[in-house]
Formats: sequence, C-alpha cells, structure tokens
Amino acid sequence: MKKISLTGIKPTGELHIGNYFGAIKPALDLANEYNAHYFIADYHGLNTMKDPEELRATTKHVAAGWLAAGLDPEKVIFYRQSSIPEIFELTVMLMAFTSKGLMNRAHAYKDATAKNSEKGEDTDAGINMGLFTYPVLMAADIILFDSDVVPVGKDQVQHIEMAADIAQSINANYGQAVLKTPQAVIQEKVAVVPGMDGRKMSKSYGNVIPLFAPENVLKKTIMHITTNSQSVEEPKDPNASQIFQLYKLFADDNEQSALANRYREGGMGWGEAKTELFRVVNRCLSPMRERYEAIMEDTPSLEKILQKGAEKARPIAAATLKRFREIAGVNSCKN
Ligand code: TRP
Repeated sequence: MKKISLTGIKPTGELHIGNYFGAIKPALDLANEYNAHYFIADYHGLNTMKDPEELRATTKHVAAGWLAAGLDPEKVIFYRQSSIPEIFELTVMLMAFTSKGLMNRAHAYKDATAKNSEKGEDTDAGINMGLFTYPVLMAADIILFDSDVVPVGKDQVQHIEMAADIAQSINANYGQAVLKTPQAVIQEKVAVVPGMDGRKMSKSYGNVIPLFAPENVLKKTIMHITTNSQSVEEPKDPNASQIFQLYKLFADDNEQSALANRYREGGMGWGEAKTELFRVVNRCLSPMRERYEAIMEDTPSLEKILQKGAEKARPIAAATLKRFREIAGVNSCKN
C-alpha cells in the first residue's frame, strides 16, 4: 500500500511564483508517489484573521489556486479543515498528553513572547490560546490520517517533531502503536525563487510576482524588475541577474542556453530580457490563470469539491479516533 502524505495549506493573501515553485508544485508532485492529502487550514487561519470576509476570501483563493495549479481532487483527498470535526476531538485528546513545557518551547510562541519583551510589554500580550496550542492542532491534523510524511519548509519542522513526540508518548503510555509517528520531509532541492529586487521572493519583502494576476498586470510587474545600469551593448552575466534566474524556471533547455548566449554577447538590453521572460512566464501561467478564474466564478462547484473531499476524509478520521478512544477508555463502560 502507498504511504500517506499530508499537506496543510494556510489561507493567505495573493499566491505568487515563489509559493508555486517553493511549495505548491513540490507538494503536488508527491501525489505520484503517495496517497496524498491536502487541506485548507482555516482554523489555523482564524488565529490571526478575525475578519470573516478576509478568512472566507483567502480560503477560497488558496483552494482555487491549488486546484488551478493542478491538484486533482479525484486522485487525492482535498478538504477544508473545518469540515472534519474529528480533528477537534483528537485535538482535545492530544492535549491530555502534551506538556505545557513543550508548547512553551514552540518557535512561533517563543518569537511572539520575545517580541513582546523587547517592546517592554507583558510577555503574553496579544497571544491567544490558538497560537499557543497551534502545534497540538497541527499534530491532530497530521495524526488523524495516519500520515507517514509531511512535506514542509524548514520553519515547520519543529511542529512535525512535536507531533511525533506527542504520538510517541501516547504509544508509550498504552504500550502499543495507537497512533502513527509522522516524519517531516524537507524538500531540499526546491528552487529558491528570486523576487523583483533579487532577494528571495516573499510577501514580506513586497517583491512578489503574483501567480494569477491578469496578463497586463503580470507584464507590468515583470517590466518593473530591478536591473543594474548596464547599457544595451554591454555583455551581461546571465547568472548574476534575477531575470535570468526566473527565466530558468520557465524556459526549456534550448531556450535557456540560447538566451544565456545573448546575454554574454551583448546587444541585448534589460527591456528585451524582460519581454522574453514575460513570454515564457505567461506561456506557463495563462492556462493556470484561466482555470483559476473559472473556479473563482463558480463557487458552488468549488464547495462541492471540498465537500466531496471531506466525505472521503471523514471515515478515515473516524476510524483513527475510534481506535484511540477505545484504547484510552473514553468510549464506553465495557471492557
Ligand atoms: N502550519 C502550517 C503553515 O504555517 C500549515 C499547517 C497546518 C500544516 N496544519 C498542518 C502543515 C499540518 C502540515 C501539516 O504553513
């Protein structure tokens, strides 16, 4: 039987090319090898998003975005976290086995308290229990589906280790393998995508190229990529330019070597390099953009996809929960 992988997707603002190559594409590739689960972590989103319109809109955006990027809901299990009540039942059970000290050591919580201390505020100012217990909810997301592997960025590794710790202490308590112990998979070979200014593409740097922007916005964004002041005639080093780094993600081998030669020969200005970049980016993104726009216009179908995913997920979830409850003695009075 195939092993199980699970990917949690936090609702966020506009998805960009860095998200696509750094997270979406590598996670979607896992569906070839694993029995893959993907879910929109809307309850995790609620910790930071208190505006219902924003939470609804970002949830819809990422759900549509992943589908447009190639997630096949027939082949994988794709659902909304809030549609699986078993996650929350399991969260409560896991709480009983999670030491408070473990949560105190979680990076996200520690960072938040450190920031408060720096500002001279109360250490726990503005920190809700959702943030504090985030790793338990995340452990429940993972453990409920007997996940073997969880593909994550480095920032999330600690959370997966905590999920494994919690599962192990439960197994140790009952002297049997009640819950599966998950493993983080860090995707090392994932490309770091440079942003418009050459730093890593990131929303916090404001240097992103959006994934689903209309064609004219995409073009305008690409034409605004930062360049140096080399003249048209000057030979250029393709590897020193983020325009070429981005080009490599979208162009085939022949296109790459042909364009690298043109950089080196001189006679090609930055404007032309950007126009060529736009051509290959748009070639790749326009079918995705069309799918994205169609999904965004048909909310009922999107809902149906997520509901069908939840229907596939819930029996699996119920089985894990039943197993654990029986062993823990919270199901019935009989032995
Ligand atoms: N915490 C993850 C993030 O910030 C999202 C997430 C929630 C997740 N639950 C998960 C990831 C379970 C993997 C497995 O991106």
